[in-house]
Amino acid sequence: MGKTVTICFANNKGGSGKSTTCANIGYVLSTMGYRVLLVDGDMQLNLSLSFFGEEEVLDMAKSEKNLYYAIRDQKDLTDYVVSTPYENLDLIPSSTLMSQIEFDLFTKWQREFILRKSLENIKASGKYDFILLDTPPTLGGWVMNILCASDYLLIRWRHRRGACSVWPICSIS
Ligand SMILES: Nc1ncnc2c1ncn2[C@@H]1O[C@H](COP(=O)(O)OP(=O)(O)O)[C@@H](O)[C@H]1O
Ligand SMILES: [Mg+2]
Repeated sequence: MGKTVTICFANNKGGSGKSTTCANIGYVLSTMGYRVLLVDGDMQLNLSLSFFGEEEVLDMAKSEKNLYYAIRDQKDLTDYVVSTPYENLDLIPSSTLMSQIEFDLFTKWQREFILRKSLENIKASGKYDFILLDTPPTLGGWVMNILCASDYLLIRWRHRRGACSVWPICSIS
C-alpha cells in the first residue's frame, strides 16, 4: 500500500488555470492507472463541472453530501466521495455555500487542520495514489486548510520571457 500524495493547486489570481490544471492532471493520472481523488474546494464548482453536467453539479451542491457540510461539521470525508464517469477518478463535490466556510470555521479549535483531519481516513485507507485539491482564488483561512492538508503546492505561472507556462512544485510538508 503506497503513500497517498496530496497536491493542491493554488494562486490568489482568478482565471490563472487552477481548476483546469487540477482537472487535466487528475484525468491524465487516472488514465495512467493511478487512483485519483479530486476535491473541489471552490464555491465556483468548476472542478466538478469538468466531470459532471451542470444539473448534476447543482444537485450535489444543494444536497448535504458535499464538502461544505463535511467541513462545517468536521466529518470524515470518506462518505462524501462520488464516482465520476471515468475509471480511477473520484470526486468530493463542492457547494456555493463554501463562500461562508471561513465564518463557520472561525471559532473552531485548530481550524487550519480541519480538512487535513477529515482526509485522514481516506489517506490511511490507501485507496488513492493521488488526492488533488482545487482552491478558490484567495489566500484566507480556507485555503490555509487546503495547504495544511497538502504535501505539495502547484502554482501555475507564465514565464516573463517565454510563451509557455512553467509548473514549479514546492514541497510544503
Ligand atoms: N493552458 C491553457 N490554455 C488556454 N486556456 C486555458 C489554459 N488553461 C486554462 N485555460 C482557460 O482559462 C480559463 C480560466 O481557467 P481556470 O482553470 O478556470 O482558472 P482558475 O481556476 O484559476 O480560476 C478557463 O476558461 C480555461 O479554459
Ligand atoms: Mg477555479
